[in-house]
Amino acid sequence: MITIKNEEDMVKLAQGLAEKCQAGDCFALHGDLGAGKSFLARAMMRALGVTDEALPSPTFAIIQEYDAANGLKVAHMDWYRLEDSFDVANLGVDEFFTAPWVTLIEWSERAPELLPQHTVHIYIELDDTDINARFVRIEK
Ligand SMILES: Nc1ncnc2c1ncn2[C@@H]1O[C@H](COP(=O)(O)OP(=O)(O)OP(=O)(O)O)[C@@H](O)[C@H]1O
Ligand SMILES: [Mg+2]
Repeated sequence: MITIKNEEDMVKLAQGLAEKCQAGDCFALHGDLGAGKSFLARAMMRALGVTDEALPSPTFAIIQEYDAANGLKVAHMDWYRLEDSFDVANLGVDEFFTAPWVTLIEWSERAPELLPQHTVHIYIELDDTDINARFVRIEK
């Protein structure tokens, strides 16, 4: 369990994850509404060299695609508005689970069976006693 004191700590965690990131990697970001899934995803995208000025929420578009450094591409997804794995499969998500893509997925709970075997799961929990603190668990 990693204790995060504030947003700066979360950015550092994102930088550490991005450093080890390779084409084809998939990260499933878990946590309640407002836990910080999008915050972590955006910090990882910046650390991976995404220079787009705006990093819009994927809640409505479901998939946002970006060019990153070193030939990597990032797909930031939010499956919240999808019903089930039928909807998710229809998006053709499989193509993103290989090079040159790195995928960052919020609300993968909608269709957990569609995640690739090599998915890294990141669980973010709020700290009831501190609005800036989080607890993070990483499982491969
Ligand atoms: N240590 C922290 N790490 C991440 N976010 C933090 C932290 N402290 C405060 N925040 C704030 O918490 C909010 C997290 O919102 P965010 O949109 O990332 O949540 P989310 O998990 O993506 O929610 P949703 O399920 O609605 O997509 C942001 O406003 C962010 O500024
Ligand atoms: Mg979000």
